[in-house]
Amino acid sequence: MIKLRVPATTANMGPGFDVIGLALDLYNTFTFALDGGDCDKESMIYEAAKVVFDKAGASMEKFSYRVDADIPIARGLGSSATCIVGGMVGANELLGAPFTQDEILKMASDFEGHPDNVAPALLGGCVISLPAGDGVVYRKINNIDNFATIAAFPDFDLSTAKARAALPKSLSYADTVSNIGHMGFLIHGLETADTEALFFGLEDKIHEPYRSKLIAGYDVMKTLEEVHKGRVLISGAGPTLLFVTEKSADLEAIKRDWEKISEPLDAAWDIRILHITTTGVEILENA
Ligand code: HSE
Repeated sequence: MIKLRVPATTANMGPGFDVIGLALDLYNTFTFALDGGDCDKESMIYEAAKVVFDKAGASMEKFSYRVDADIPIARGLGSSATCIVGGMVGANELLGAPFTQDEILKMASDFEGHPDNVAPALLGGCVISLPAGDGVVYRKINNIDNFATIAAFPDFDLSTAKARAALPKSLSYADTVSNIGHMGFLIHGLETADTEALFFGLEDKIHEPYRSKLIAGYDVMKTLEEVHKGRVLISGAGPTLLFVTEKSADLEAIKRDWEKISEPLDAAWDIRILHITTTGVEILENA
């Protein structure tokens, strides 16, 4: 029996569409066994585990799993990535770990179609990743201790498929150059604790302008930036919004102010302080 937990992740961080993500301390916990127990064979968890079993040439006849989920589904916090990473790591452990972490990352990235959620879900922390050649090239950004995050989850969902369908088929040079520039400042700001560069770097022109229209209340929630120092981002494909602020900020006061801002809106917004976790998938029990 293998019990493991996988952290939530926020992808894109403004300009880093499909290439940067951050692990946060909200978890889905999975238990896997080869006991012939009942489980949903149509689920993403089962399908992800099947990739590993098939590649290892092993039978899934006795495979079963259970999930204890704390991450809301289809909200932009990487719940699908936890199912993919959880299913693959669980299957790999049950089979005696025939695949390396890099091989699991490649399989997970292929399964999801982009690596920016699965990489930090697997590795923890803030990860830049890009499929290249036969694998996924990635680096963890160290020293990411200078900022804090507060998430606002609305009570409506938004599928990644719908949020990706809202994107334009092509981009202008001006918007592309803007994102390249802001991404550079973002990485510099993260690595050097230069919060001025970090906040400047969180600007996006290639997905947020299109997706914000799908998130009722986005413009109102964005006004938090007028009251507190920091940036409101769309977390992954949305609809959760993430406020990135200085670590020294009064997070409880920001949370209260964001709750007040959200009160007149039609949807209920659940505002939570989430901490960055540098640990990715964790095996809790292996018996
Ligand atoms: N980078 C992805 C997107 C994350 O924004 O569509 C969501 O899966």
